[in-house]
Amino acid sequence: MPLADPALGGGIRVRKLSHDYQRDEQRIEALSDVNLDIPVGEFVALVGTSGCGKTTLLDILSGLLESLQGEVLLAGEPPSAGRPDTARMFARDALMPWRTAAQNIDFALATRVQDTDQRAQRIQQLLDAVGLEEFADAYPGQLSQGMRQRVALARTFSLQSKFVMLDEPFGAVDAMTKISLQDQLVELWEQTPSTTVVLVTHDLGEAVALSDRVIVMSPRPGRIVADVPIDLPRPRSVKALQSVSEFHKLVAQLWDELGA
Ligand SMILES: Nc1ncnc2c1ncn2[C@@H]1O[C@H](COP(=O)(O)OP(=O)(O)OP(=O)(O)O)[C@@H](O)[C@H]1O
Ligand SMILES: [Mg+2]
Repeated sequence: MPLADPALGGGIRVRKLSHDYQRDEQRIEALSDVNLDIPVGEFVALVGTSGCGKTTLLDILSGLLESLQGEVLLAGEPPSAGRPDTARMFARDALMPWRTAAQNIDFALATRVQDTDQRAQRIQQLLDAVGLEEFADAYPGQLSQGMRQRVALARTFSLQSKFVMLDEPFGAVDAMTKISLQDQLVELWEQTPSTTVVLVTHDLGEAVALSDRVIVMSPRPGRIVADVPIDLPRPRSVKALQSVSEFHKLVAQLWDELGA
């Protein structure tokens, strides 16, 4: 990898990363010798069988878990939980039930932006982008699961973080809602060209439809076994892709790579 590559210097670099967990007397090898470079602005999906270490890798990249062996750098710095340039979204939304949709987004935004008018404008834009313009004042308990995930998505992108880590963000929603959420995610990402996204997913169609590249991991201990470029043109519509043969070929290729 040329050191002179400024894009990579600002991106994600993982070298010889291994990780074990200790459970009682047992050592569980979760990741083994993971090497990965993700340039700035790339959208990468991470796929692999359940338990292969995807969340472990994402936790390390997000600074929620300390890496034990190997090197991990985001924009040249090791990850840490408090890094303001990294945003993380989980499978189940972690919205505060006592705050409205707008207030949930504002909770994060207020730490960065002082001007209340500017924040209100940004929140409205984000709610528009995820189709919730009329629900700014609704509480999470008044929203469906898919709508709550939309708020969480808007909140994740509100900070315009350099790095966005998504762990099965749409795992808990139905197939139809999923496609519109996926389109909204792509749209939000396309609005911020320097945002690097790492998406963990079980859904190979989702991986292909959204990503520039899909990283395939082996069963535990997770290693990278394939790195598949997705050369589908952008801007993409997830719905329209469902009838594109190249899309289905890539999904089939991923099934092969997984050895399924
Ligand atoms: N806190 C922990 N303590 C002990 N073992 C753990 C811990 N967290 C994860 N593991 C183990 O590490 C392995 C990798 O787990 P991880 O959650 O990273 O997998 P995953 O690929 O995200 O799986 P899934 O697709 O089911 O979410 C699993 O075998 C799991 O049992
Ligand atoms: Mg997981």
